[in-house]
Amino acid sequence: MTEQTPVNETTAVKATPTLPDAQTVTEIEHYTDRLFRFRCTRPASLRFRSGEFVMIGLMGDPHPETGKRKPLLRAYSIASPSWDEELEFYSIKVQDGPLTSKLQHIQPGDEIILRPKPVGTLVHDALLPGKRIWFFATGTGFAPFASLLREPQTYEDYDEVIITHTCREVGELTYGRDLIESLKTDELLNEVIGEGFWKKIKYYPTTTREESPKMGRITDLMKSGEAFKDLGVEPLNPESDRAMICGNLAFNLELKEMFEEYGLEEGANSKPAHYVVEKAFLD
Ligand SMILES: Cc1cc2nc3c(=O)[nH]c(=O)nc-3n(C[C@H](O)[C@H](O)[C@H](O)COP(=O)(O)OP(=O)(O)OC[C@H]3O[C@@H](n4cnc5c(N)ncnc54)[C@H](O)[C@@H]3O)c2cc1C
Ligand SMILES: NC(=O)c1ccc[n+]([C@@H]2O[C@H](COP(=O)([O-])OP(=O)(O)OC[C@H]3O[C@@H](n4cnc5c(N)ncnc54)[C@H](OP(=O)(O)O)[C@@H]3O)[C@@H](O)[C@H]2O)c1
Repeated sequence: MTEQTPVNETTAVKATPTLPDAQTVTEIEHYTDRLFRFRCTRPASLRFRSGEFVMIGLMGDPHPETGKRKPLLRAYSIASPSWDEELEFYSIKVQDGPLTSKLQHIQPGDEIILRPKPVGTLVHDALLPGKRIWFFATGTGFAPFASLLREPQTYEDYDEVIITHTCREVGELTYGRDLIESLKTDELLNEVIGEGFWKKIKYYPTTTREESPKMGRITDLMKSGEAFKDLGVEPLNPESDRAMICGNLAFNLELKEMFEEYGLEEGANSKPAHYVVEKAFLD
């Protein structure tokens, strides 16, 4: 008689990965009918810099003639920091989107595909030393900053960390707000980075289509000077300020134009400068 090991859903999934580069979903939280976050296992060999993105996805539907299934992959910022033993992603749900129409239904124990080749420009290496770092996000563009806000280097390199997040509706701010709030009581981060590290953060959430304490696009609030007055800081300047931008294309372009007027130069991994930009999605 051979000894039997009890099989439960999790061990069954781990024992027989059905997808190439499979990782197992461990946790899911839905925020609105358009936004959710999930965590999954991290390949032991995956090294990345906080702020980078990877390709993730699911197997597509079988081809109507051949029956073959191909991976359906999309770029996703890793929302967890580089030291985390799991990976976190913050995702849109596009109801007719090839990937997210399916991805929004994943459950703990399910598998996703993760191509372990992290890349991206929203990394500390692409910026020159400075005093204050700004993170500018719209919508799911908050994801890389969810990583960088939990990255010790952010607080080692800068005296002040300003995060702005512009969304249409109040519910779309929840993920970011909860995450920033959680930093205050995160024992590990307070121990590793230093007690009260989170006091360096100034959080500036705004909405454009639903009533909230601060209404308006961050770009307009900066142009009018209101954002700087609220935050108690001077407009950005190349001596002290560094910035990372992640939003829709129009937002990115508008901020880039404003930054050039402030005298800031765009940086890259190969040539660090004053600010870096990445698209939150293609359009
Ligand atoms: C560098 C990079 C990093 C990205 N990181 C993330 C991330 O961390 N989280 C995330 O949810 N998406 C991210 N995206 C977008 C992602 O790659 C997919 O587009 C998204 O998952 C939708 O996939 P889909 O196949 O369902 O629809 P797609 O066919 O890819 O998109 C359909 C349409 O939905 C809209 N759309 C797509 N993505 C978004 C979004 N994030 N927010 C608002 N509208 C959107 C656009 O109008 C797009 O034309 C990133 C894209 C790039 C280029
Ligand atoms: N969010 C929703 O409730 C919703 C619902 C259904 C479908 N969609 C579709 O989903 C897609 C993405 O929507 P999204 O809301 O995630 O992202 P989005 O359209 O990029 O908007 C996110 C936030 O960025 C602001 N913004 C846009 N352009 C800007 C600029 N140039 N400068 C500064 N701020 C700017 C928007 O303000 P404004 O409001 O002023 O544009 C909004 O507050 C769109 O095609 C949309 O039609 C969205």
